[in-house]
Amino acid sequence: MPDDIRREIERLRGEIQRHEYLYYVLDRPEISDQDFDQFVRRLQALEKEHPELVTPDSPTQRVGGKPREGFIKVPHSSPMLSLDNALTEEELREFDRRVRSLLGGEPYAYVAELKLDGLSMAARYESGLLVRGITRGDGLVGEDVTENGRTIRSLPLRLRQEHGDIEVRGEVVMHRKAFERLNVEREAQGLPRYANPRNSAAGSLRVLDPSITASRQLSFYAYGLFRDGAPLLESHWDSLDRLEKIGFKVNPYRKLCPALEDLLAFFREWEDKRETLPYEIDGVVAKVDSIPQQRALGWTAKAPRWAIAAKYTPRQAETTVEDIGVQVGRTGTLTPVARLAPVVVGGVTVSRATLHNEDEIERLGVQIGDTVVVERSGDVIPKVVRVARQGERRRPFGMPKQCPVCGGEVVREAGEVASRCINTNCPARLKESVRHFAQRGVMDIDGLGDALVDQLVERKLVTNVADLYRLKVEDLIELERMAEKSAGKVMANIGASRTRPLPRVLAGLGIPFVGERTAAILAETFGSLDEIAAADMETLQTAEEVGPKVAHSVNAFFREPRNQELVERLRKEGLQFQHQRKRKKSGPLEGRTLVLTGTLPTLARAEATKLIEEAGGKVTGSVSKKTDYLVAGEEAGSKLEKAQSLGVKVIDEAGLRKLLGG
Ligand code: IVH
Repeated sequence: MPDDIRREIERLRGEIQRHEYLYYVLDRPEISDQDFDQFVRRLQALEKEHPELVTPDSPTQRVGGKPREGFIKVPHSSPMLSLDNALTEEELREFDRRVRSLLGGEPYAYVAELKLDGLSMAARYESGLLVRGITRGDGLVGEDVTENGRTIRSLPLRLRQEHGDIEVRGEVVMHRKAFERLNVEREAQGLPRYANPRNSAAGSLRVLDPSITASRQLSFYAYGLFRDGAPLLESHWDSLDRLEKIGFKVNPYRKLCPALEDLLAFFREWEDKRETLPYEIDGVVAKVDSIPQQRALGWTAKAPRWAIAAKYTPRQAETTVEDIGVQVGRTGTLTPVARLAPVVVGGVTVSRATLHNEDEIERLGVQIGDTVVVERSGDVIPKVVRVARQGERRRPFGMPKQCPVCGGEVVREAGEVASRCINTNCPARLKESVRHFAQRGVMDIDGLGDALVDQLVERKLVTNVADLYRLKVEDLIELERMAEKSAGKVMANIGASRTRPLPRVLAGLGIPFVGERTAAILAETFGSLDEIAAADMETLQTAEEVGPKVAHSVNAFFREPRNQELVERLRKEGLQFQHQRKRKKSGPLEGRTLVLTGTLPTLARAEATKLIEEAGGKVTGSVSKKTDYLVAGEEAGSKLEKAQSLGVKVIDEAGLRKLLGG
């Protein structure tokens, strides 16, 4: 029997690896997401029954590394240098003249690639297994980000072909979609937005907790194959093909260019087409294809002589700020928005740009009447980069003291960047909260568009989101541009939203700092809306990633009588208040909460967590009165003191094993 199971596990891993390759690397899935999940669940179940058969390269083992205290420095096998830039076509021609003359008349070709805007990383493989991921650092010494790198799905944990010990270098990027999703989430949590996908990719790779990297959906595109610090093959073009064969995602937009003109054509081709890519590029890289020729050309102190980065100029334009207005958001936040004299930036007319908040206006030093530089990159919202010239009759923007929509009081709390309208009945806030509730990814109510929401709120048909469930087709047909058929559809969609699971309902309530992810964690930890509503600050913080700020916000929300009333009405409307937990929890630690601290003699933190969860227990990040046990290893710090002061039982690894029943 065990042999059968071993074979089944091997088979599933092979299948999963193949489908991950098809999906993440080749972008050519052969099966549905559901079928894929089926494979993974089956493998997880078998590995759970047979933990002795789990291997580090199993597709189930991408996330599992423990949070770290800091990053270890690792020297590079050979310097990871940067590239010289060519800012004009003339500079590109000049580069080519130099290559030609240094090669003394030999024929040569270039490989043209896109210059992805992310950060570079080296990935080392030993006997076909990923053993280390290292950031570029200062080019000579980087940081060990192995656990974080493992969470990147396009980075293989195991090569498709055994290849001796190799190092693969490439670019870690965040796709535009993932970037926007992340910023929406961060705003909901009151965190500052990331400025661009590159910063956010860098920030996501260099976090101490790998589960955060995993949630950020980074991609890795390979562009270099090395052994002992030197290229493995004699042609760069062949290396890219080889990389693809052994399991890496290599950017498909590459071209072998026998002449400079081919290179220029490639550069021009992508100048416009780059807007259509799902990620950002800031230029094109040209590399001499032949590695012997690369060696002959050599390096300067900073960069290779055999390669160049031909950069695109960012899509910017100058225009004047005609006015600065404010928009009122769902939580009452007043966002200053610049009204601009319309200007074409990269083919699109721009007439508005967000200024985010008062601090940003101060940082830019912008006033009404100034001429500013606006920039558009991809489909990211246009932004004001800097003031080009101050206007003659410029005047400063002042945050209104009263809400421009309802006239309510506007306050800016100490320590917050945002000014808010504090009137919870403000129609602008109400409209935004209904939009938020209905949006995709939350309650998913198709057809409840902006114009409809405006009318529903203005006619007082909807005074909170629970009213949506009381609407009748007759109410809707009264409204502008509403035929009976579409009214019927909207009604059906509203009705269907009653079945959305608890995390959606929770996210839909619009509690400040509770976005989709936090909502999912809260639902998973507490199991029902009533448990969450009843939890005190301390209990809330036993949930992963929930700190004092989020806990306070959740607690304050459910103590507010208006919100309690809303919750009761939603309950009566039959929304989902119970959560179907992912894991069935039963075993010797059922209902127990444990905290881990310090280094245990034999168990890594992830392993200990897994064992505890399999025994029905829960592992949280901080010690509170509700903690049943603190499992302390060597160099336990403040958590140990806190446990002792609260009288929480402290045990060691042996004690834990005893609890686990063996
Ligand atoms: S080759 C010595 N190829 O651009 C050559 N780099 O300024 C090393 N980059 O640090 C780099 N796309 O982060 C190469 N297709 C590509 C690239 C690329 C983006 C980045 C990389 C590097 C920087 C060089």
